[in-house]
Amino acid sequence: MVSRSANGDVLKVSSEVDEAELMLQGQANIWRRMFAFADSMTLKCAVELRIADIIHSHARPITLSQIATCIDSPSPDIACLARIMRFLVRAKIFTAAPPPQSDGGETLYGLTPSSKWLLHDAELSLAPMVLMENHPSLMAPWHCFGTCVKEGGIAFEKAHGSQIWDLASENPEFNKLFNDGMARIRISRAFNFDLPHVVASAPAYEGVSHVGGDMFESIPNADAIFMKWIMHDWSDEDCIKIFKNCRKALPEKTGKIIIVDGVIREDSDDPFDKTRLVFDLLMIAHSSNGKERSEVEWKKVLEEGGFPRYRIMEISISSLPVIIESSHASHVMSILFVILYLLILTIWICSICRDTKIIFRYSHFWAPTHVGYFFVWTVWY
Ligand SMILES: C[S@@+](CC[C@H](N)C(=O)[O-])C[C@H]1O[C@@H](n2cnc3c(N)ncnc32)[C@H](O)[C@@H]1O
Repeated sequence: MVSRSANGDVLKVSSEVDEAELMLQGQANIWRRMFAFADSMTLKCAVELRIADIIHSHARPITLSQIATCIDSPSPDIACLARIMRFLVRAKIFTAAPPPQSDGGETLYGLTPSSKWLLHDAELSLAPMVLMENHPSLMAPWHCFGTCVKEGGIAFEKAHGSQIWDLASENPEFNKLFNDGMARIRISRAFNFDLPHVVASAPAYEGVSHVGGDMFESIPNADAIFMKWIMHDWSDEDCIKIFKNCRKALPEKTGKIIIVDGVIREDSDDPFDKTRLVFDLLMIAHSSNGKERSEVEWKKVLEEGGFPRYRIMEISISSLPVIIESSHASHVMSILFVILYLLILTIWICSICRDTKIIFRYSHFWAPTHVGYFFVWTVWY
């Protein structure tokens, strides 16, 4: 198709225009992704300099010079800071507002809902995780993806010659970085089970005792086992081994495992969708054949590990991980109830058909019982 100007001159063939526009968009996409690390590096810089904490401590938006005064340095480079803040404002990590006259004409920087997650002392903070995930030791395996595809194997081992848990046990600085990066939980009357070198430096919590061990050998007995971001670190075979050890540690009838982990969903458009896929790549980078799983994949490992029933609960309207609650209560009682229910149903139908005179006499009794048994069975199941 040909486009013409008002005086009839041929402007351009529109398919060429479309093609050129698409090429430009394609180029912009590549530039954006080539430098995507600028997002994480500037975020890391903001956490290292504690910029969110500095603004928060003033309880209102502040100027660049006020931020610079609070940075732990005798002579911070304000021009450099200004450029980094401009980037972070564009990324919606901070706000920048034109100044009121009383502040001497300087831009005022404030917090956003994103920067509030970077406060060091907040109970829910992602600051330690930002530092952990962007540490050179944890970035190095990301450079080995091509080699992993060509040769197979574990990215972390290719970068460091050992698995992540071995590096943590040998290197106290890395161990601290890793443990700080993991979220904290509050529990009363529980034990925290982890590798011996991890529990050795675990902080004390009221009502929580620390127990060291290897979950591939055995897990101490408990009423319920809570595992957050554990199973995605392991292959299906390893998950099944861990679940089997959980089964041994739990009471036969009432035992439960509560898993907080991701579930990959097709066609999801919630705000964490892309991060779930990033977590799957994170498992290539840092774990030993771990992965994020779809519900079908979870069902398979749970079943093979001895937990045939499960239900998935969203933690909030939208959240990165979900809760998978699973129990290994035996099917025997349910089957007995079904048999009993079918038996009573048959007798009741027979009584209606007047096949059995004795039972017919009591048919007014059987009808509500049938509803009752069905109810019991449904509740039990
Ligand atoms: C991703 S972290 C879990 C993070 C933590 N649950 C949280 O939510 O922040 C995985 C944990 O599994 C522990 N771990 C790894 N191998 C283990 C094993 N064989 N036995 C027991 N714990 C192990 C690691 O030491 C680490 O603390």
